[in-house]
Amino acid sequence: MENKKFYITTPIYYPSDKLHIGHTYCTVATDALARYHRLKGEEVMFLTGTDEHGQKIENKAKEAGVTPKEFVDRIVEGEGGVKALWELMNISNDRFIRTTDDYHVSAVQKLFRKMYDKGDIYKGTYKGKYCTPCESFWTESQLKDGCCPDCGRPVVDAEEEAYFFRLSKYADRIRDLLENTDFLQPRSRVNEMVKNFIDPGLEDLCVSRTSFTWGIPVDFDPKHVVYVWLDALTNYITALGYCNDRYDDYDKGWWPGVNIVGKEIVRFHSIIWPAMLMSLGEPLPKHVFGHGWLLLDGGKMSKSKGNVVDPYILAEKFGVDALRFFLMRTFPFGSDGNFSNELLIQTINTDLANDLGNLVSRTTAMAGKYFGGTLPEGCGTWEAPEDCDKDLTALASGLRDRYEDAMEQFAPHKALDEVFKVIQRANKYIDETAPWALAKDMDANGRRLAHVLYNLLEATRICGILLSPFMPESMEKLFAQTGAPAEGRTWDSAAQWGALPETVSVTKGENLFPRIDMEKAIAELEAAAAAAKKAALPAVEVEPQLTEKVDFDTFCKSDFRAVKVKACEAVKKSAKLLKFTLDDGTGVDRQILSGIHAWYEPEDLVGKTLIAIVNLPPRKMMGLESNGMLISAVHTEKGEECLHLIMVDDAIPAGAKLC
Ligand code: MSP
Repeated sequence: MENKKFYITTPIYYPSDKLHIGHTYCTVATDALARYHRLKGEEVMFLTGTDEHGQKIENKAKEAGVTPKEFVDRIVEGEGGVKALWELMNISNDRFIRTTDDYHVSAVQKLFRKMYDKGDIYKGTYKGKYCTPCESFWTESQLKDGCCPDCGRPVVDAEEEAYFFRLSKYADRIRDLLENTDFLQPRSRVNEMVKNFIDPGLEDLCVSRTSFTWGIPVDFDPKHVVYVWLDALTNYITALGYCNDRYDDYDKGWWPGVNIVGKEIVRFHSIIWPAMLMSLGEPLPKHVFGHGWLLLDGGKMSKSKGNVVDPYILAEKFGVDALRFFLMRTFPFGSDGNFSNELLIQTINTDLANDLGNLVSRTTAMAGKYFGGTLPEGCGTWEAPEDCDKDLTALASGLRDRYEDAMEQFAPHKALDEVFKVIQRANKYIDETAPWALAKDMDANGRRLAHVLYNLLEATRICGILLSPFMPESMEKLFAQTGAPAEGRTWDSAAQWGALPETVSVTKGENLFPRIDMEKAIAELEAAAAAAKKAALPAVEVEPQLTEKVDFDTFCKSDFRAVKVKACEAVKKSAKLLKFTLDDGTGVDRQILSGIHAWYEPEDLVGKTLIAIVNLPPRKMMGLESNGMLISAVHTEKGEECLHLIMVDDAIPAGAKLC
């Protein structure tokens, strides 16, 4: 096979928060595609990384009280961060680019100057609308109900000196690229782009900012930082060595590559990105593929909505491969899909535990039981194949080509569907051939039984090869059980029925995908999600201080006194109220009711010296009169309200006034 070079990328992720299952979906899909191309014997370069500049990151860092670099370092490199997640998910990227890497920074400066020297970047004044969370400029006509058309959030007016990229100059070429080539996939996205962005007229794009500093400075005018999208998009070529010496792969046949991206950033990748490359005189990507979103309850997951699904929790609970498989098997890659824990568990139980798991465990168990784990020579052929033999053989032999067709069209879900048709056919074959019945008379049926088991091992081997880009570790385990040697695990051998040596040793091993108890697992997930939500809450939160001023005379009208608790009891039929009998220094007992039973037991308070405001008008609660209010300090801790009565030194006499 010709040793083709294949370059594939994910978007580079914003390290503004921890990544969620939606980001994982995008990366796992790209990983499965990369592994598929490696399986085919191609030389693959798989790039992912992080997009670390921009106002959003600058603001977040400020909130966290750290520098922007410290902030992104923590999310990219730290525990539970981006790199750790990709390692956990068994992502096989060859390179990881951070846009704060020195080589990228200087490359962006160089290519910005190239475009400027060419006259494609010029200085002007930016007036318009800016969406800070999306780092996007919009014209009035592009807004949706006055808000950002991408995220729906409010935009702000912005006016400043800025550099512009002559995007308008490339409008016709971009239209042609979109309409008349297969550059943008799936095809359904083309219409969207042309109708929403090209037809209304492409305007020049503002590509620098002066209102914040966390970006790559324009080297010939350093009060400007490069617009974060111009900086980010070029990662796909700087990571190969374009305009830098860190790598020297740009001219080695990797570029152009394939950019896999989510649907909301297709505009940047299918309009701005090719126009930039046209300006630089560089080849355009082979394809940009815009996949759909994973939704939760029909809406987008987002940190601000508090509805993100944590891939760490799911991977730990169900296994990395099961999670990878679920993401690719369930949702057609170009469309949106609704995520749910129930669907995840159902998919694992049906496809992995029932169909694949049973096929492997029944086949290996029978090979062990009837043949001691090694089938006899000659078992690969059978003189008079029955219909079911022919059916299974034909379906499995043609699987690789059907799978390849689907994968080449960026349709991993269809490829998996083809594999599972064979797995289901193989399970049916077990029922049709009833090996346990054949085993009753080994003298008469032993050869037939061996052939049936060989066919099952062969079908399993072919499916195992084609599933390995999706579940690499589990397929290694599957091969170890079914005995397929290295040469029987290759792409070529996936199209060769009979490539499995007849006398391999088969060993029934651990259950590859145990069945999951849906109810129990859902309850555990809900508890874990609640705990994670709680852990993510700020440790201590206090109410903001009032800004409205109170004049001194008004303040002095409040009469605060030290009071001693003579008696305290819970108010009957009230879960909250305690009734206090207090010595307030007047010689007459004062009764105050206070709703603090959640924090204090009455007996613990007797004898304490507290602070009360004593000139509030009397108030009735549960039929009892309360004359004043005890003073407490309150704050929130991990989402829970905490209250502390203000207790003072017992040496302070009852009735002492606070001033
Ligand atoms: N930094 C930009 C990309 C720059 S590429 C030159 C960005 N980053 S992101 O972190 O917000 O998103 C990264 C990818 O994750 C995008 O492709 C986005 O579509 C994808 N996803 C984020 N949430 C998603 C879902 N809920 N579902 C599927 N993919 C989602 O955009």
